[in-house]
Amino acid sequence: MEAAEVKSAVRYGTHNRMRAAVVTAYGPPEVVRITDVPIPRIGDHDVLVRVAATTVSAADWRIRAHAMPRGFGLLSRLALGITRPRQPVLGTELSGTVVAVGRSVTRFRLNDAVIGFPGARLGAHAEYRAMRETGAIVLKPAGLGWHEAAALPFGGTTALHFLRDKGAIRSGQRVLVIGASGAVGSAAVQLARHFGATVTAVTSGANIDLARRIGAEHVIDYTAEDITRHGAKYDLVLDAVGAETFTRAKTVLAPDGRFLMVAADLPQMLGGLASLPFRQNAISSIAPERAHDLELLAGLAARGAWRPVIDQVYPLDRIVAAHRRVESRRKRGSVVVVLGPEAGGPA
Ligand SMILES: NC(=O)c1ccc[n+]([C@@H]2O[C@H](COP(=O)([O-])OP(=O)(O)OC[C@H]3O[C@@H](n4cnc5c(N)ncnc54)[C@H](OP(=O)(O)O)[C@@H]3O)[C@@H](O)[C@H]2O)c1
Repeated sequence: MEAAEVKSAVRYGTHNRMRAAVVTAYGPPEVVRITDVPIPRIGDHDVLVRVAATTVSAADWRIRAHAMPRGFGLLSRLALGITRPRQPVLGTELSGTVVAVGRSVTRFRLNDAVIGFPGARLGAHAEYRAMRETGAIVLKPAGLGWHEAAALPFGGTTALHFLRDKGAIRSGQRVLVIGASGAVGSAAVQLARHFGATVTAVTSGANIDLARRIGAEHVIDYTAEDITRHGAKYDLVLDAVGAETFTRAKTVLAPDGRFLMVAADLPQMLGGLASLPFRQNAISSIAPERAHDLELLAGLAARGAWRPVIDQVYPLDRIVAAHRRVESRRKRGSVVVVLGPEAGGPA
C-alpha cells in the first residue's frame, strides 16, 4: 500500500490531478501556463502539503526568463535545463496544510499548518507539494498569516545567512542595506535591527517611507544621492540587488568591513575570492535551505521582531501578471500567489 494512502485527506484514485503553473520554455512571463498535472505521490518519510500561498520570487523570474547574473549563463543552463527548466513547476516557498503523511513521518500530522522552502528544488507553484519531513519545513506560527508565512523563507533565510553567517553581525555595528525594499533587503533591514545594528537603507524615493517603517534609522535615496559621497562608514554593506562594485563599496567600509554580495555576478564573485586575505573583503554565497533557520525566522516573525513585506497578492490564474511584476524589479518585498482556501484562494 502507498504510504500516502495510510493517512491522507487526498483521494489519489478519484482526485489525482492538480492545477499548477508550468513553464515549458525559457521566455517572457507569458510562457507560464496553468495546466493539470498529477498530484505528487509521497514516500514513507514525506508529507503532502496543500499549498495555501506561494510567491513568485526573484529566483522564479531569473529561471523562467533565464536571466542569470553575468558569467552564469552556461553553468545555469547545465544545472537548470538547456532550453527549458528541467523542473517545469517553479516556486521556491510556500505556506499550506499537511493533507497526507507517509507511514514513517513523526514530525508532522494531518492538518498541520506549515511553512515550506523547497528552494532550488522548486515546485511550489502548484496546489500540492510533497516535502521530506526532514527538509526545510516547519510549523507555521498561529499568529503569522498565510501570505506572510509564504513570503518568509526566500528573503528571510537569505538575509539571515548573509548577515549572521557571512557578516558575523554584532550589536552596535553600522549596516548599509542596498536594495532595502526587495524581499531580501526588507528582511535584512529588520533582521539587522533585531541583531542590534544601526541600519541605513538605500532605496529610491518611492520606498523611503517603507524603509523607515521597517526600522531603518537613515535612508539614502539612490536616485538623488551617491552612497560614496555621504561620508559615513559601515561595518557591513549588504548589497541585495547587485547595484554596487567592491571598489565603490570599499570607500564606505570600515577598515575591517565586509561587502556582502547577495546578487554577485561571476567577475564580482572572483574579485571577492581575491579579497579574502585582506581586512576589507567582499563575500558572495548561496543561502542554504534549512529547517532550523526557518524555525528561527518563524519564531522571530511570530514575536513581531520582523515581518515579511508583501507587495501584491495574485490568484493562481493571474500568475503571469505576478511574473511581470517581479520582472519589473520594482516589487516591494514579495509578490504572493494564493492557491488554497486558507489564504483566500479557491476552495
Ligand atoms: N545569493 C543567494 O543565495 C540569493 C538568495 C536569494 C536571492 N538572491 C538574489 O537577490 C536579489 C534580490 O532579490 P529580491 O527578491 O530581494 O529583490 P528584487 O526583486 O531583485 O529587488 C526589488 C527591489 O530592489 C530595489 N532596487 C532596484 N534597483 C536598485 C538599486 N540600484 N538600488 C537600490 N534598490 C534597488 C527596488 O526598489 P526601487 O524601486 O526603490 O529601486 C525593488 O524594491 C535577486 O537578484 C536574487 O536573485 C540571491
